[in-house]
Amino acid sequence: MKRDAFVSGVVACAIVAGGCVAGATLAAVTALQGDPNRGRTLYQGCTGCHSVDDNDLGPRHRGVVGRRAGSIQDYSYSPALKNSGLTWDEATLDRWLTNPTALVPGTKMFFKLDAAQDRADVISYLASLK
Ligand code: HEC
Repeated sequence: MKRDAFVSGVVACAIVAGGCVAGATLAAVTALQGDPNRGRTLYQGCTGCHSVDDNDLGPRHRGVVGRRAGSIQDYSYSPALKNSGLTWDEATLDRWLTNPTALVPGTKMFFKLDAAQDRADVISYLASLK
């Protein structure tokens, strides 16, 4: 038992860039840290359809983290997203940006971010938009 704990401790330390955090759970250390500044730059890729404060082809984004999916009153969502029952948090946004149509079949958003780090960075930028 002791040895198992030691081994998983090593795995956790290997994953965390800044060193080993004593007492951190493995789930916490494996979650990618998002960089909101890098996310702001990556967000340029979203601005073809979205903006922070105005609806465009896609709905506005300020306050999206913590919001129910499809809940901006003056934006015309697909019925699929409106009725998805999702709430946007880090986990649902990560799945959404990985593949919107896999998470919500019938959605009208098709844009994806393939790199997990890119998704984490954009999500942390979205979370900073209060
Ligand atoms: C080509 C256009 C396009 C691009 C690019 C795009 N989106 Fe979207 N997005 C949409 C559309 C259209 C919807 C509405 C989907 C629906 O109603 O099914 C949407 C919806 C969303 C929603 C749901 C919001 C809500 O109020 O429920 C989020 C979150 C989102 N987009 C994030 C992003 C992010 C982050 C990016 C960039 C990484 C991005 N989108 C890039 C078109 C786009």
